[in-house]
Parts: sequence; structure tokens; C-alpha cells
Amino acid sequence: MRTTPHSAASIFAIFLILGISSAIPTPRDSADCVAEAISGRRVFRRQDWSYEGATGPRFWGTLGEEFEACRKGRRQSPINLSSESARLNSSAPIVFKYPRKFGAKVANLGHTVEVIAPEDSALIVRDGVEYSLVQMHLHSPSEHHVTSHARSAEVHLVHRSASGDVQVLAMFLDEDLDSPHVAPAWFRQWKDLAPVKVGLDNAAPAPALPVGALAKTFATLGPFWTYEGSLTTPPCTEGVGWIVANTSVRVSARLLRELTSLMPFNARYTQPTHGEGEEASLVVQ
Ligand SMILES: *[C@@H]1O[C@H](CO)[C@@H](O)[C@H](O)[C@H]1NC(C)=O
Ligand SMILES: *[C@@H]1O[C@H](CO)[C@@H](O)[C@H](O)[C@H]1NC(C)=O
Ligand SMILES: *[C@@H]1O[C@H](CO)[C@@H](O)[C@H](O)[C@H]1NC(C)=O
Ligand SMILES: [Zn+2]
Repeated sequence: MRTTPHSAASIFAIFLILGISSAIPTPRDSADCVAEAISGRRVFRRQDWSYEGATGPRFWGTLGEEFEACRKGRRQSPINLSSESARLNSSAPIVFKYPRKFGAKVANLGHTVEVIAPEDSALIVRDGVEYSLVQMHLHSPSEHHVTSHARSAEVHLVHRSASGDVQVLAMFLDEDLDSPHVAPAWFRQWKDLAPVKVGLDNAAPAPALPVGALAKTFATLGPFWTYEGSLTTPPCTEGVGWIVANTSVRVSARLLRELTSLMPFNARYTQPTHGEGEEASLVVQ
């Protein structure tokens, strides 16, 4: 199911509803637990945020103190990528150390379907630091925009260093309406295993996911945008290095829909950027 971004009127309506319902306790015990890769460890928390209504992106920063960065952060993601907000380079500033295949798990977390990587099995090196692939997941439509345009979907490959620093590689997927069968093998396996019950306990094994081919493909999708931003889901932690491939991977519209139909609309709206010029003048003041 897709929803359209909230109009000013519906946001006003949500304020009214919040005002009225704040006295009514909401049951949260039925909420699913989800895994999030933050600051060097896996944290399990209730999914008390969503992509619409009173727990949607505009309110994440007010849902708890631990989500404050969603509201107060000045380098939040996703963004509208352009020469003003990010750097563009023909090659990605990383070296891949991915195996040809690895044994992963596919889990439906409710807000996305995630491929969980085996520990320290697939690495990237950036500026001499090694980052290990933790998981990859899908957003639909894309979270990043390129000069105002969104794409059909966006894959995030989340990597973490031993000291907890995060690098995310982002890859756009575009619907191919003419070729009903076209899809990379890694996408096909992900999609085929995705229809599992929500929850980490119900994860399906993917014994030989061809992750090496994925890395090879990524390297060909230049040019690449780089900037420093945040996680795009609560707690919206900053200091995340982003490398976004500008060229998209084409996937059959039918096959892409088979995967995206398992998740809600799950793209955070683009965040304001504070360009380097502006920041430089702040330093001078
Ligand atoms: C592009 O990447 C190359 C190789 O990593 C680097 O030498 C160059 O400075 C980069 N250019 C920009 C504009 O970032
Ligand atoms: C996105 O960036 C482009 C290029 O700088 C700009 O023309 C456009 O207005 C921006 N869109 C939004 C919604 O900020
Ligand atoms: C990025 O991709 C878009 C959409 O395909 C294309 O129009 C644009 O020219 C590309 N930008 C660069 C810098 O290659
Ligand atoms: Zn993501």
C-alpha cells in the first residue's frame, strides 16, 4: 500500500487528533521488536515509530529522547542530491572485500525486508578503515532524490567499523516495464525468501547469496555522490558516511513489486541541507 506525502491540511488534522487522543493510553505491547544497527551493537527495540500518522517521520523527533537527532540534527538524511549538497566523483572511494557468496538470513522487520549478513564476512575499506557489512534493506520509493527526482526504490548496504562508525552504500532500483524477468540474482533470492512472517525469529536462511556480484555491479553504477549524513530511521544518528550511486539498476516492475508489496511506503522525506558555503561562514562568525 502506498500513501502520498501529508498535505499541510492532514498534518494539521494529526495535531488535532494528537491533542484529543493524548489522554487515551495506547497499547504498545503488541508492537514488534525490530533490530537496528547502531553504534557498534545490535539493539532490539519496540517498533514505536512508523511512516504515517502520529508516529510518522514528522514526529520521530518527539517520540522519545533517544530520537532527538531526528528533530535537532543538522546533517540528516536522506537529502536532495545535487552539486550544492554533495560531492560527485566518477569512482566510489572504497575497496570491496566481499566474498563471492555468503550465507545470510532474510527477515521481515515490518517496515522493511532486511538481508542480515554473517558477521565480518563482507568488508569495504574507506580511507584505510575497514567496515563490515551488517545488513541491507530496501526503501520504496527511493529516499534520496537526485536534483529533485525520486527513483522506484533504494537499497541500503549498512557497514560498521570496529569502533562503531557507519558507512552506507546506496543503490537505486528502477522499474523496467518492458522486461518481465530482468533482475540480478541477488535481488531474485532476496525477493523469493522475503515472504516470511514479521519478526527476526522468522528469518529465512539464504545459504548462498551472490553478494560478490552485487559489489561488482555497484562499482559500475557511477558517478557516485558522497556526503556525511545520518541514519534515515530513528534514532537518526549522525556521522554516517553516504556513498550513493547515481546510475540505477533496472529490475522488472513485476519482480520489484513482489518485494515492495511486503513493506509499507517507507521513505523518509528529504531533509534540509546546510551547504558547505553556509557552514564556512558560520565558522567565521
Ligand atoms: C575523486 O576520487 C579520486 C580518487 O579517489 C580523488 O583523487 C579525487 O580527489 C576525487 N575528487 C573529488 C572531487 O572528490
Ligand atoms: C534539488 O536540487 C536541485 C539542484 O540544486 C534544485 O534545483 C531543486 O530545487 C532541489 N529540490 C528541492 C526540493 O529542494
Ligand atoms: C544521474 O542520473 C540521472 C538519471 O538517470 C541523470 O539524468 C543524470 O544526468 C545523472 N547525473 C550525473 C552527474 O551523471
Ligand atoms: Zn535505509
